[in-house]
Amino acid sequence: MKSKEELLSQLSDVLLSNWTGSYTRPAAHLYPHQWLWDSCFTAIGLRHVDIEKAQQELRSLIRGQWSNGMLPHMIFNDSHQSFAKDSNIWRSKRNPYAPDDIATSGITQPPVLAEAVVQVGQKMTLRERRGWYQDMYPAIVRYHEWLYAERDPHGDGLVVLLHPWESGLDNSPPWIEQLHKHAKPWWVALVEKLNLDKIVRFLRRDTHYVPPGQRLRDIDALLYHSVMLRLRRKNWLTESIMERSHFMVEDLAYNSILIRANQQLVEIAKTIGHELPEDLIEDIANTEKSLDNLWDSYYKQYFSRHFISRKFLKQPTIATLLPLYSGSITKERAEELVTMVRNTELFAAEYPLPSVPLNSTYFKEHGYWQGPTWINTNWMVADGLDRYGYKQEAKHIREQSMRAVEKHGPWEYFSPKDGSPAGAENFSWTAALIIDFIS
Ligand code: GLC
Repeated sequence: MKSKEELLSQLSDVLLSNWTGSYTRPAAHLYPHQWLWDSCFTAIGLRHVDIEKAQQELRSLIRGQWSNGMLPHMIFNDSHQSFAKDSNIWRSKRNPYAPDDIATSGITQPPVLAEAVVQVGQKMTLRERRGWYQDMYPAIVRYHEWLYAERDPHGDGLVVLLHPWESGLDNSPPWIEQLHKHAKPWWVALVEKLNLDKIVRFLRRDTHYVPPGQRLRDIDALLYHSVMLRLRRKNWLTESIMERSHFMVEDLAYNSILIRANQQLVEIAKTIGHELPEDLIEDIANTEKSLDNLWDSYYKQYFSRHFISRKFLKQPTIATLLPLYSGSITKERAEELVTMVRNTELFAAEYPLPSVPLNSTYFKEHGYWQGPTWINTNWMVADGLDRYGYKQEAKHIREQSMRAVEKHGPWEYFSPKDGSPAGAENFSWTAALIIDFIS
């Protein structure tokens, strides 16, 4: 058994070794660039270790903001050997709003920034916090305004995602099903039919570093790539993409996180005495109201929804529990979700919370977003459980997360059955959020 101090020092060393000078890469080889929600989670841990670094982490994130307000899900590290190749895949500079001096991806990721800014602010005196909030406020407002302007064409407050990578839960079953149903170009279908998908393996970088069984299937990786190419052909312009696409999802996880982010944005505005723009206030209220439209009264749970057909994507995943994090659902609904948290066929694994329920046909102990426990989703669900008064459940999730990391180190994800590790080693948000749990 490690002492608390030993574990803290081990995890801080991991963050230090992943620090690039201006941000923390998620993992040394697999993820050398800067990712949007990774930096937010990392800052939440860094605030306990080095508050200035935590601030720098988030400031460096908003360097990548597009002139229309979008925060890209990746900023490419121009001193890394893979820079030219990786940034050339995206070619985001074809979009008129992309920055000139910095290479980014052309899609976004869950809006955890407001949460991270508040968490970092909590470690400051009121005076320092006000200054910090003043600095970060404009970027967050512009980002949330962009989400509503471009990604909420119905004006009902539910934001639409255009690529599974935008959900952050990259390989989640409802997305995979949608891709196979609605977004399979003929050439991918051909590759699948002729069983040529093994060839894709040679082109992949991730499976150099992580056993293939712990990553996306080759055919799914190819499908993801094909969606990316389609968005790139439209120069990453939301309007042109949405004109044609059949692949648009009102994502449950994303919208739940947005609700919490909006609450934190309101808190930031209040602290610095700013009024949020009126349209934004209206949009914020709409999202809270419309989350209810994702509730299925037969299955007694929330689902993501297809933007055009309005059909639910009925595959329960860890997203099912994220409305708890939103804090905006009724106590009765929260109780329904907690019943699932306590159910040993669903989420009550030895090392909770699995990324899909234990009884899901997709469940694979070490499969990518299809079974393992991730520490960032644990952080959010535990935070929500606490706010709804389920202290015991929240404590148990945190304790088992710490136990897995204490035994094996801060890996990217863990078997919910026995805590054995998978994915990338020395993964930043795992280290950071366990520091947060301990602190
Ligand atoms: C994986 C995760 C994604 C994360 C990225 C970088 O792709 O699915 O959520 O942002 O790695 O760590």
